[in-house]
Amino acid sequence: MTVIALVPAAGAGTRLAAAQPKAFVELAGVPLVVRAVRGLLESGVVDAVVVAVPAEAVSTSSALLTGLGKSVAVVAGGADRTASVRCALAEAVRLHGDAEVFLVHDAARVLVPSEVVRSVVDAVRGGRAAVVPVLPLADTVKELDADGRVVATPDRATLRAVQTPQGFAADVLVRAYEGVDGGSPVTDDAGLVEALGVTVHTVAGHQLAFKVTTALDLAMAELLLEERP
Ligand code: CTP
Ligand code: MG
Repeated sequence: MTVIALVPAAGAGTRLAAAQPKAFVELAGVPLVVRAVRGLLESGVVDAVVVAVPAEAVSTSSALLTGLGKSVAVVAGGADRTASVRCALAEAVRLHGDAEVFLVHDAARVLVPSEVVRSVVDAVRGGRAAVVPVLPLADTVKELDADGRVVATPDRATLRAVQTPQGFAADVLVRAYEGVDGGSPVTDDAGLVEALGVTVHTVAGHQLAFKVTTALDLAMAELLLEERP
């Protein structure tokens, strides 16, 4: 089965607040997006990658990323993550008409272990139309009203934090994005698939698949790399 990974990497990185867009911030000398794409290719189950980067970074990124493998393409992303995935998906459909599985993977999840990528792909290959890696929550979650007052405490045992890569039968992801008009940004591709009425399945995520969001996350990633470069 042909597996194509879409990597949204066009965000500003506002919460990280670095001098450059987050995907190009270096971790032990290597830009985050390069580490993320390498991780996908090293899993051994990804045939090609399409990366969405900020429009002004397309040419510099192409030099950086296409050197990683014959099958890495770069496109301009959009104003929000949903728009960026949509740009990468359109290019992937154009380049890889034979794609059977699409993975969507945040450029900011740089340390995702190969076993997570493989178990997502295996589950889609096994017939699941949509698969997400998940972890139990350490903290209790509260639902608040607009004034910050607690209105509900969902049972933590039924909740999971969702990571990437998320995996989809190719036609299902295409259908999910057909319904997106640009006015409804979501943080999670599986959410769009749920809206189609398609069941989303889960596999075990991994703590190392955390997303570099803040300076603390970047410092943690640096420490982890010192232990296991
Ligand atoms: N992303 C994207 N295009 C956007 C916004 C986000 O491709 N317009 C990507 C980011 O580059 C990142 C992934 O979506 O790899 C997850 O988003 P997030 O962690 O929120 O990154 P940023 O949006 O860059 O960070 P922030 O929200 O702090 O600005
Ligand atoms: Mg963001």
